[in-house]
Amino acid sequence: MLIRINQDAHPIAPSEITPESLYRGRRNFIRAAGLGAAALAVSPAFAAAKLGAIQKSPLSSTEAPTALKSVISYNNFYEFGTGKEDPARNAGRFKTRPWTVRVDGLCAKPRTFAIDDLLKLAPLEERIYRMRCVEGWSMVIPWNGFPLASLLKQVEPLGSAKFVEFVTAADRATMPGLALPVLDWPYTEGLRIDEAMHPLTILALGLYGEELLAQNGAPLRLVVPWKYGFKGAKSLVSIRLTDKQPATAWNIAAPNEYGFYSNVNPEVDHPRWSQASERRIGEFTKRKTLPFNGYADHVARLYAGMDLRKFY
Ligand code: MTE
Repeated sequence: MLIRINQDAHPIAPSEITPESLYRGRRNFIRAAGLGAAALAVSPAFAAAKLGAIQKSPLSSTEAPTALKSVISYNNFYEFGTGKEDPARNAGRFKTRPWTVRVDGLCAKPRTFAIDDLLKLAPLEERIYRMRCVEGWSMVIPWNGFPLASLLKQVEPLGSAKFVEFVTAADRATMPGLALPVLDWPYTEGLRIDEAMHPLTILALGLYGEELLAQNGAPLRLVVPWKYGFKGAKSLVSIRLTDKQPATAWNIAAPNEYGFYSNVNPEVDHPRWSQASERRIGEFTKRKTLPFNGYADHVARLYAGMDLRKFY
């Protein structure tokens, strides 16, 4: 995000956006033809496995989801490079099994969760969320996952836990972007405990009914729909309860551009990008950005009395 993009250029030409039905048809063809391994070597986009039972959620948006092809090919994941197509192109060697997530810090029962055990938590929920990137584009993504709160409750947070810190994978052998001094690796993020326990905050294991692909943060990533996309830390390895506000990778890199809260706020511009409007991927006309990304009814009360220009 430290790299300037041309906001007037539409990121993906509509002709490049394949309807999901066609895209899935192509996947099935590749599987049926036994080309799985060869296709994997070319593009990690073919590695997804179907998830089990998925339950719909009243917290989902009724807006039309963004085409799957765009969701998996237009990404920010700097560990694989700073270009939007780099993550899908460069994540082929990234291993998401075996994988564990450590949940510890200020809690009574710290624990290490194996990803395959989390995948067995049935049914996972479908959460169709509006997602807004600080760079000025947005998508609607049908995530599959579960509330972060349900994981945190299992470790029994202590009363002294006021914040949650998220740390993500940093494997130099398989993440070529780590060679770039763009961020202070590993990528870290943080939430206040009430934000972390909020029902809208989820851990996603999949999208569109399939396990996450590496470029979207496999095997497990954070999703906080009322905040800018960069809060959604990908490929989590550690979740820690703390009594101090955690340092976050983007805040360390550019404190005047990225604050701790990062709530979507059309009234507070980023120094380089207006936040008043956004371009939904797949659409031409810009739409107005809504306070808290349209989730104000759910979350505005968390910030009652706070100056949101100061706590950006
Ligand atoms: N997580 C890690 N580990 N590294 C990153 O570079 N980029 C963030 C966020 N999570 C990032 C990350 C940014 S800037 C955005 S907008 C979202 O991931 C993009 O998520 P998506 O590619 O699945 O849409």
